[in-house]
Amino acid sequence: MIRVRGLSKAFNGQKVLDGLDLDVAAGEILAVMGPSGTGKSVLLLQLIGLMPPDEGDIEIAGVVVTDLAERELLKFRRQVGYLFQDSALYDFMTVEENVGFPLREHTPARPVEIKERVNELLKMVDMAGAGGKYPSELSGGMRKRAALARALALGSKVLLCDEPTSGLDPIRSRDISLLIRELSRKLGCTTLITTHDVRNAFRTADRALVLNQGRAAACGPENVLRASTDPFVMEFLE
Ligand SMILES: Nc1ncnc2c1ncn2[C@@H]1O[C@H](COP(=O)(O)OP(=O)(O)OP(=O)(O)O)[C@@H](O)[C@H]1O
Ligand SMILES: [Mg+2]
Repeated sequence: MIRVRGLSKAFNGQKVLDGLDLDVAAGEILAVMGPSGTGKSVLLLQLIGLMPPDEGDIEIAGVVVTDLAERELLKFRRQVGYLFQDSALYDFMTVEENVGFPLREHTPARPVEIKERVNELLKMVDMAGAGGKYPSELSGGMRKRAALARALALGSKVLLCDEPTSGLDPIRSRDISLLIRELSRKLGCTTLITTHDVRNAFRTADRALVLNQGRAAACGPENVLRASTDPFVMEFLE
């Protein structure tokens, strides 16, 4: 479903991604792990064409993202749900308006249909009743859940979540991790999350990849990663 080959990206001569290969099967949940600054967000941004790679190919659901022109990219992005690292909710819109935004922008749905769909989405993320609140009135965990509902609004089969647990306490982190897993499975999504939270990564994901110096230092299910003898992976998992 997601296929990355030879992905490279450098900033000011500093290599962030260095020939990265990555495969995620349909319906699979993969965690991309690594310390701060290892290029996790850069990878996600390139997957949806918000940042062009220096080299390499990205294919998602049969679409070669790296070949798309700007107009085709806009269309392609509707097929991918994206949860931004900082939630990126619109402060001046209520939760309901935020979640309904992709539907108003990209579908011909009528207001009553949008309202119905938004209610359904809010229920899915356990936010029924909070639709009238503004993002500033929400806790960090609720903001993440509202952003998740918005990411799922168009029924995308590919879901990318950048640091879904960052800034949350252990309980909320666990809750959102389990919620992402539950919804991915229920909706049949192929999901990629980035995180440096090892424990929650395996609550959500089937497999994890540890990034180091622009490449995969290890990739596999928890037992495989735990058995890695790569010093970087061992230290990171500690
Ligand atoms: N637009 C940009 N211009 C220049 N450098 C950038 C840009 N975006 C990212 N970088 C650099 O690329 C590196 C990787 O950044 P990235 O945001 O992907 O890290 P990350 O793994 O997501 O970290 P974190 O865990 O803190 O979110 C960093 O050194 C960052 O400074
Ligand atoms: Mg990041």
